[in-house]
Amino acid sequence: MEIIRAIGAMREVAGRARANGQRIGFVPTMGWLHEGHTSLIGLARECTDLVVVSIFVNPTQFGPEEDFERYPRDLERDAVLAREAGCDVLFVPDGGEMYPEGYATYVYVEGLSDLLCGERRPGHFRGVATVVAKLLNIVQPQCAVFGQKDAQQSVIIRRMVKDLDMDVEIVIGPTVREKNGVAVSSRNMYLSGDERVQASALYRSLVTAKKMIEAGERDVAAIVAAMRQMIESQPAARVDYISIVDSETLKEVTRLDGEVLIALAVWFGKARLIDNMVFTIENKKGKG
Ligand code: PAF
Repeated sequence: MEIIRAIGAMREVAGRARANGQRIGFVPTMGWLHEGHTSLIGLARECTDLVVVSIFVNPTQFGPEEDFERYPRDLERDAVLAREAGCDVLFVPDGGEMYPEGYATYVYVEGLSDLLCGERRPGHFRGVATVVAKLLNIVQPQCAVFGQKDAQQSVIIRRMVKDLDMDVEIVIGPTVREKNGVAVSSRNMYLSGDERVQASALYRSLVTAKKMIEAGERDVAAIVAAMRQMIESQPAARVDYISIVDSETLKEVTRLDGEVLIALAVWFGKARLIDNMVFTIENKKGKG
């Protein structure tokens, strides 16, 4: 596995691979790799010839009060995990080269970036869309892989790629969970042992929602209330939001019909955890 730091060198390697007819698969990350990332690298491996993984803790997607400074960084550890998962090229750009003095251009996906997590983290998705656009321009992959855990991010990136006519296929890999259902995330390292146990309520609340929908429940407020009650029974939990939205527009739904996304964010101590599930609901005509 090769480690590349300079943008020019990354372009050269990618350009050569494309010229040789190789398909490039790309997995952008902020490092502190875990099973969620390695499963995405595995997906990229399956459908491409050259797998590029980037590690860049992107300053523009963190708010002033957020954890940019203390976000975990360990390149040696990440390099081992990336190589074992099937990465060929680890791209670790420098902050100064990505955002040099005078940097002024941002990508903002209207209508999707200020809802859900975006409402609570102003500017976050502008930073994500900007850095992903830059990385896609540098690596020029045929396929880029993201995780379903960051459902809103995936919807925004798909929209950006479509709207800006970017020639890349976006693949979304399933959420990887710990044994107790907690979605794996770099931010789980902020959880105490007890908070990690309590955090399983997020997944259990989603499973409860699933069961309610399967049993015919169509009242959005009743489902959200049941989920909230289950999460708030954990003493360390502080619900940020629980929303049921259209899976494409991310707008709140009043009626469960078609493909909906149940998304939530909950604080446990210093960690803000997110999770979600997608449901396809087919109501019989005249009902629902
Ligand atoms: O999901 C992440 O880790 C980040 O938001 C991403 C896509 C690497 C952009 O910085």
